[in-house]
Amino acid sequence: MANWHVFESRDDMVIALKVAIESQLQAAIEARGQASWAVSGGSTPKPLFQAMQNAPLDWRHVDVALVDERWVDYDHPRSNEAFVAENLMQGRAASGCLVGMKSDHATPARGVMEVNKRFDALSLPFDSLLLGLGPDGHTASLFPGAEGIEVAFAESATTCVALTAIQSAVTGEEVERMSLSAKAIQEAAQVVLMITGDEKKQTLEAALSGDGSLPIARVYAMKPFEIYWAP
Ligand code: 6PG
Repeated sequence: MANWHVFESRDDMVIALKVAIESQLQAAIEARGQASWAVSGGSTPKPLFQAMQNAPLDWRHVDVALVDERWVDYDHPRSNEAFVAENLMQGRAASGCLVGMKSDHATPARGVMEVNKRFDALSLPFDSLLLGLGPDGHTASLFPGAEGIEVAFAESATTCVALTAIQSAVTGEEVERMSLSAKAIQEAAQVVLMITGDEKKQTLEAALSGDGSLPIARVYAMKPFEIYWAP
């Protein structure tokens, strides 16, 4: 039985998500003096990020890392790192440490070793991890049929993996991707999926009740994450 949290409004969903994530991060800080939060890019998380800006956490002890990144520079309009910096790392959260997933290498495949060194220096496994969902059933940058997708789901996967997605309306031009592996997602203490609208609800329901081959279903089978949905 999937773990659905259904809300009448997006505002109500954001309030509930903020409570759940904030308490998880606070507990980590109290337990070991540090918390790590992995966040997706895209667009859905924007209101949650803005609500979390002034969460009463000791943000000096919070590492915020990317769940995935399009292989573009920070000043590119499709940079997830810039999206997170602009919408989350403000106010009190500006004291947090944002850990990006991009390196200066030409491709994710060439940059994956450096990015893994960066991520493996964090306080892992992640205390909280925020997933999104695309209409094609991808999550993070685990796109159906992507080159590298089976490496990304391997038991022996590194924290971060390089993928080349099949170009589609969902990927846009950014087919070169860096992503957390399914194993890194599985190992997170708290994993929540934040989705809105009927299309994504239907995509998820179909994926979870189908043959289990879509990335979001494979991740759910490894880690039955909490689902937060509003119209
Ligand atoms: C990305 C995201 C991705 C996102 C979904 C949903 O780099 O594209 O991290 O995994 O979560 O594509 O995106 P929206 O929130 O914009 O619908």
